[in-house]
Amino acid sequence: MNIRPRRNRASEALRELVQENRLISSDLIAPLFVIEGDKIRQEISSMPGQFRLSIDELLEECGRLQDLGLKCVSLFPALGDDLKDKYASESKNSAGLFPQAIHAVKKKYPDLLVMSDVAMDPYSSDGHDGIVDDDGRILNDETLPILAAMAVTQAQAGSDIIGPSDMMDGRIGYIREALDKENFKQTAIMSYTAKYASSFYGPFREALDSTPKSGDKKTYQMNPANVKEALLEADLDAGEGADILMVKPGLPYLDVIRALSEHSDLPIAAYNVSGEYAMIKAAGLKGWLDEEAAMMEMLLSFKRAGADMILTYFAHEAARLLK
Ligand code: PBG
Repeated sequence: MNIRPRRNRASEALRELVQENRLISSDLIAPLFVIEGDKIRQEISSMPGQFRLSIDELLEECGRLQDLGLKCVSLFPALGDDLKDKYASESKNSAGLFPQAIHAVKKKYPDLLVMSDVAMDPYSSDGHDGIVDDDGRILNDETLPILAAMAVTQAQAGSDIIGPSDMMDGRIGYIREALDKENFKQTAIMSYTAKYASSFYGPFREALDSTPKSGDKKTYQMNPANVKEALLEADLDAGEGADILMVKPGLPYLDVIRALSEHSDLPIAAYNVSGEYAMIKAAGLKGWLDEEAAMMEMLLSFKRAGADMILTYFAHEAARLLK
């Protein structure tokens, strides 16, 4: 027996020396939910440890995350029903909650990157990412101008990275053109390139109260059975000007992360979504899993699969452990 793989596992030092992948805090992007009000931290019941934060609380959390070495936060607005309508009109209100939140974070922490979500669902009375017609169909081309106006509003507020999560065809190019026209040539786009119609988004929809009022999202989000289709989406997004490609969810789609990282020269992000967080939290709370160990193992798996960065609700906890 000349070849003994166990030799390289004999001590902590040796294991570290031969370690192939590492997780560092700057890999992590923290998704954060913002809500109207003052001094508000509303815990999301299906995501223990995650909160809807008013802007003052959001700023405190951003400060803590920056101190822990994070470079980027990804913001989502949680709006009341009174602000939702069929055309997501509130999404282009530059005096609205979301642009205000983006602006406040950039003002206080100019070096912290702000990524902002672009899709109709947080503002839509239908709970869909695009316009819903009378027959329940999701209109593609009619939705694009709404997404572009939303992106420009966010860029004006100071967003560094626009994150279109809607999965309408052609939206990356359409948004890119709108941003450039308004002279936001430096505003980046992280495309939700391979976003699957997944059951793992449940807790997020609770956080934003954005569950679709009718139907599902299968006519625009991808079929979980497909991987070649993710390459087609990647080619389109890259051609239309995306700067970073994302795979979402993460854990059940490690093969898609691997495929995209081999297929594309663009940086790849993994979105470790709300249901993946809830799963580990729930098992941890029940004492069925060592939560910290499972969290770190899961986050490392994204790096191993080929992700360059990870959006995760565990960002704060993981960065604390990495410090
Ligand atoms: C919607 C959006 C969703 C998530 C991010 N943006 C949910 C959906 O498509 O219904 C999910 C994130 C998560 O589950 O953590 N534009």
